[in-house]
Amino acid sequence: MKFANRFGNFTEVGEKKGAAMSLPKSDLTKQADGLTTMELGAVLPKTAAVEGGHLHIGGVDMVELAREQGTALYVFDEADLRDRMEQYREAFSEVYPNSEVLYASKAFLNKEVLRIAAEEGMCLDVSGGGELYCARMVDFPMERVFMHGNYKTERELREAMAAGVGRIVLDTRIELGRVSRIAGELGITQKVLMRITPGVEADTHEYIKTGCEDSKFGFTMLGDFAFNCVEDVLAAPNVDLAGFHCHIGSQIFALHSFREAVQVMVEFVARVKERYGLEVEDLDMGGGLGIAYTTADRPSSIYEFAECTASAVKEFCAEYGVKEPRLLVEPGRSLVANAGVTLYTIGIMKTLPDIRKYVAVDGGMSDNIRTALYHAEYEAVIANKADEPRTEIVTLCGKHCESGDAVVLDGSLQHPELGDIACVFGTGAYCYTMSSSYNGQPRPAIVFVKDGQARVVTRRETYEDLFDRDL
Ligand code: LLP
Repeated sequence: MKFANRFGNFTEVGEKKGAAMSLPKSDLTKQADGLTTMELGAVLPKTAAVEGGHLHIGGVDMVELAREQGTALYVFDEADLRDRMEQYREAFSEVYPNSEVLYASKAFLNKEVLRIAAEEGMCLDVSGGGELYCARMVDFPMERVFMHGNYKTERELREAMAAGVGRIVLDTRIELGRVSRIAGELGITQKVLMRITPGVEADTHEYIKTGCEDSKFGFTMLGDFAFNCVEDVLAAPNVDLAGFHCHIGSQIFALHSFREAVQVMVEFVARVKERYGLEVEDLDMGGGLGIAYTTADRPSSIYEFAECTASAVKEFCAEYGVKEPRLLVEPGRSLVANAGVTLYTIGIMKTLPDIRKYVAVDGGMSDNIRTALYHAEYEAVIANKADEPRTEIVTLCGKHCESGDAVVLDGSLQHPELGDIACVFGTGAYCYTMSSSYNGQPRPAIVFVKDGQARVVTRRETYEDLFDRDL
């Protein structure tokens, strides 16, 4: 049986069962697409351009930048980042003025991106004490921070509440007890949201609909558990129930899934009003808007997402007779993924006739685990041959001791040669934050480019950094 997984691709159920991490078999009939860099469309960061055969981003030559900074290297197009943040803010304020956009910092986190998010008027979703710490380091306004997580430790809760975060998103009844007690000890009243599992997934397939109830996150709606727990939250001292939260998944293309989730949530809000007389302040619909990883992907725009979500909230609030709440959304990937690229140097090539062509880069699963983990798809070009057509199908593999270590599986690429600079697009989300130092590989530096200037915002990890904590 085939079903759409949450990354939008079709997977044969059970195909990976019991398999060690290895590459899926190459499709030898696949033809290179013949596209040049600028024909890759939505996959490219906003300021991508080709000049003198070289890929430029933010007016900076990626080939020169790779030579100066070394590879592997994460590069972010600052104009693209800011543009998407502005689009989110503008789209939501236009269709639903009483709204806030929270940047889900798990997608990409360093101090500079949080400074930019603060400047662009974002609120912030932090998941855990480390993300909170980064926000505090850049003086992110704490009342605009929402703390998430299915198991926030005692320390994380205490730090967040002492710092004055705007909302704690409650995940369980056990956590309610802790938050209530800590708030009492700190002498504060903590505003909280309850995270609900609405039983709606990013696809309407029955298999997935039932499957999504099986979640470690949030209060389940099964057996009306979540609804009954509202009473406990209302009764708990030192906490103030400000509203409800849900997050139905990630890399979602089908907007109707968000509409269905809004309906479930607004109906819930209406029942809460009827039973407990509470009109909630906030409705937080989480993140999840999909992006273009490949030229075949057709994600909805930020504007379409805003329009769909806002109109559903208005429509269902009218239908169920409840006051329109403040609407919150928590995008991560759709703010940062396409702004980021990774540059590598091609250093080894190996052709296995009738099997595949391996092109090895000086990084891999340490800087991008998504391909190994999810068989995620990416587009790549050779930055120093950016105006040439992509005439070959290759697997860009990494340098790690693991057969499944690849960045691009069977992708189109210009004719590769040793020393070429490969650029993989769409790596701005969930690559750096999920990176590791496997095989003692230092994490790449992060460079922001804008108006012809490149600035290192996170320096490359050193060998010393790797072992500094060892005693
Ligand atoms: N809010 C909550 C509560 C979340 O759990 C997430 C993502 C977001 C917002 C942001 O969702 P986004 O807009 O980025 O889809 N590691 C996976 C993605 C995991 C997403 C986890 N939660 C990947 O690499 O695709």
